[in-house]
Amino acid sequence: MLIHVNQEDRQFHLTNGQISYIFHVMKNGQLGHLYYGKALRNRDDFSHLQVYDVPTGATTHVYADDPAFGLETLRQEYPAYGNSDFREPAISVSKTTANHVPHFTYDSYQLLDGKPRLEGLPATYTEEQHEASTLQITLKDEFLQAELLLNYTIFRDKPAITRSASLKNLGTGELVIDRFMGASLDLPDKDFTMIHLAGTWSRERHVKERKLETGIQSIFSLRGVSSHHHNPFLALQRPEATEHTGEVYGFNFIYSSNFLMQIEVDHYDMARLTVGIHPFGFKWNLKPQASFQSPEVVMVYSDQGLNGMSQAFHTLYREHLIQGQWKKAVRPILINNWEATYFDFNEEKLVEIAKSASQLGIELLVLDDGWFGKRNDDTSSLGDWHVDLNKLPNGLESLAMKITETGMKFGLWFEPEMISPNSELFREHPDWAVGIPGQHYTLGRNQLVLDFSRPEIVDYLYEKMSAIIKQTNLAYIKWDMNRNITEAFSQKLAVHEQGEFFHRYILGVYALYDRLTSEFPNVLFESCAGGGGRFDPGMMYYAPQAWTSDDTDAIERLKIQYGTSFAYPVYSMGSHVSAVPNHQTLRTTPLQTRANTAYFGTFGYELDPVKLTEEERIEIKEQVAFYKQHRELIRDGHFYRLLSPFSKNETAWMVVSQDQSEALIGWYKVLATPNPKKQQTLRLSGITASNMYKVAGSERTYYGDELMNVGLPLPTEFNGVNGGSAERGGDFQSQVFYLQQIEG
Ligand code: GLA
Repeated sequence: MLIHVNQEDRQFHLTNGQISYIFHVMKNGQLGHLYYGKALRNRDDFSHLQVYDVPTGATTHVYADDPAFGLETLRQEYPAYGNSDFREPAISVSKTTANHVPHFTYDSYQLLDGKPRLEGLPATYTEEQHEASTLQITLKDEFLQAELLLNYTIFRDKPAITRSASLKNLGTGELVIDRFMGASLDLPDKDFTMIHLAGTWSRERHVKERKLETGIQSIFSLRGVSSHHHNPFLALQRPEATEHTGEVYGFNFIYSSNFLMQIEVDHYDMARLTVGIHPFGFKWNLKPQASFQSPEVVMVYSDQGLNGMSQAFHTLYREHLIQGQWKKAVRPILINNWEATYFDFNEEKLVEIAKSASQLGIELLVLDDGWFGKRNDDTSSLGDWHVDLNKLPNGLESLAMKITETGMKFGLWFEPEMISPNSELFREHPDWAVGIPGQHYTLGRNQLVLDFSRPEIVDYLYEKMSAIIKQTNLAYIKWDMNRNITEAFSQKLAVHEQGEFFHRYILGVYALYDRLTSEFPNVLFESCAGGGGRFDPGMMYYAPQAWTSDDTDAIERLKIQYGTSFAYPVYSMGSHVSAVPNHQTLRTTPLQTRANTAYFGTFGYELDPVKLTEEERIEIKEQVAFYKQHRELIRDGHFYRLLSPFSKNETAWMVVSQDQSEALIGWYKVLATPNPKKQQTLRLSGITASNMYKVAGSERTYYGDELMNVGLPLPTEFNGVNGGSAERGGDFQSQVFYLQQIEG
C-alpha cells in the first residue's frame, strides 16, 4: 500500500518514495490540502504543515472564537463557493427547490489495491493490483442529500497521481450540477512559469510560456473537441528549472471535449489550479440515485526538469493508458493516399500505389477520404458509408484483397461523427444532425455533426463500421473529425437538459470507440481531427496513435512534434514523409530531412511512390529499413528534448533505451550559417557516463560523460571554401545518429 492513513487525526499521505501528496480533514469537516511535491518521509502527524495564522484586514472566519480559520486563506482539496472562500470553486451544485451553500464534510475513506476503471470514460488503468494504490474519500452534504467521492490513485514506480470525482444524489429530488471539476489543487505560492501548448490548424501545440501573475490565467476549449487551439495540458515550472533539472509539475486532462484548466493567483500569492469540464454551457440534471463521474486528471511531478515531467507522462501512458496489444506491438509503416491523390483515385491507382510501396518495405496502405457515397470533393456524402462504385467498381472487398496480395495490410478512413447536408443519410434523417430545427445551422467544411448524444445514432455507426471491418478484414482505421460543434443542441434532449449535450456527445464517441476496439482488438486506430484537433489522452486510450497535424512540412513538424512531446509519447505521433514542395507551406526540404523528422513518431509516407525517381526509391528503401531497425527503441526509449525550435535555429532530441545501451539522436538546422563555427557539437543527455559508445558510420568511440559534457561532434559544415570536404550544408540540414554501447 502506497497510502498512509492516520485515522485519529484524519490525515492521508500518498507516497511512493518519489512523490508525496498529503491532505487532512479540517476542523469544519472539509478537506484541507497540506503538500504535493518531492517525497517526504512519513510521520504520524503532518498538521503543522497547515499554514494557520490570523489574516489581516477585512476577512471572514468560520468560527467566532477562531479568527484564523477562514477558508480564504486555507488550502483545500475540493472547494465550494459561497462560504468564506472567494476563489473559483471545484463544485457548484444545487437543489431545484431550496437554497444552500454546498458543504461537503468528511464521512469515510476506503483503500483499494490497483485502480478501478471509470465507467464510460477513458482513464489510466492497472493490470496488476500492485501497480498502484487508490484512496477513495467519501464526503457528504446532508442538506443536499448528496455524496461526493474523491478518487486518488498513486502509481508504484512513477511520480504520478490521478484524481477524479463523482457525485451521487441520495435524495428524492433532482440536483443541478453547474460545475464539477476533476481536481483542484492549492499551491502555496505563485513562483512558477506556466507552460502550455497552443496553436491552430496546421500549427498545433506550439510551446507557450508565461509567469503566473495575480488573477486568473487559463486555457480551455468550448469547441466540442479538445481542440487545435489549446491542448488539455499545462505545466508549472519553477524559475530555476530547465529541460534537465529542477522542479516541474505537469497536468493533463483525460478528456476530448470542452475543458478548462485554470490557475487563480490570489492576494496572498497562493495559486489554485482547477482542471475539469468547462463549466460554461454545462448543466447536468442529477436524478435521484444517479451519479455523475468527472473525467480524470493526471498530475506528475518532476525534479529533473521538463524532460523528467514528459518522461513521467510517456511511461504512464505507455503502460497504463494505451490498451491491449498496442502497448507492445510494433506499428506498421504506412502509406496514406491523401496527399498523393486527394479525391481523385480508382482501384487501379490504389493497387499501383500499394505495389510500389510494398517494394519499398512499407507495410500498410491507408485509403483516405473519398471512397464512399459520391464523394468527389468535401461537399457531400458524409454518413453514406457504402463504397462508391464509380471509383471502385469491384467494391471494397476486391480492393482489400488486391492490396493484401501486394503484401500490404489495408486501412480505411472514416469520419463517423459527421453528416453532409448533401447525403442520403441527411435526406433520410435530417433530425440526426446537431442543431435547432428551423433555425440556422452553421457549416464547417460544408458539413454538419451527427448527434452522438443519441445512442441509436451511435448504434447505426457501429453497424456500418463493423460490417466494413469484417467485409474487408481491415487492419487499421483513421477516425477523423473535421469540424467544431456549433448550435450544440440535441433534438432528443428537453430544453432544461441541453447543458448535458457536449458531455453526452463525447460519451457517445467513447462508447463507439469502446465497442469497436473491444470487438476488433486487432484493428489499429489512429485518431485525427483535421490533423491534431483532438490529440489528447482521452483519444489515446482507444487510439494508440494520432495524426499529429495536417502539416507534413518537416520544418514545421519540428515545432509541432517538439511541443506534442511535452505530454505525449513520440510513438503516439503519426509522422509521415510527404512530397515537395510541401502542400501546406510550399517549402522544399531534402528527402533525408523529411525522414529524419518523421522517424521520431509512428513513421509513414504521404506521397505517390509511383512518381518517385529511382534515386529517391533507393533512399526511401533505406529509410524504411532504418525505421524498422529502430522502432522498438523509439517506442520504448526515454525521450529527451535537447535544443528547442522555439528559441534556436537548431532543434535536437534523442531517444535512449531504458538500459542506456543505445540511443537515436535527431539534429536539425533550419537555415545555413555563412562561415560557420569550426567545431560544432551537440551535448547529449540520459546516457551512462561510464559507458563507451560508438557512433554508427564512424570509427570513433566516446564515453558517455564526453558526449554529455563535451558533446557529440557534428559533421563538418560547408563554409564557402571547404567544398568537397564539407559533410553538410544548405538550408534544412539534419542528421540522425545512432549510438551503441561497446565494450570499453
Ligand atoms: C482531414 C485529415 C487529413 C485527411 C482529410 C481528408 O483534414 O486531417 O489527413 O484525412 O481530412 O478529407
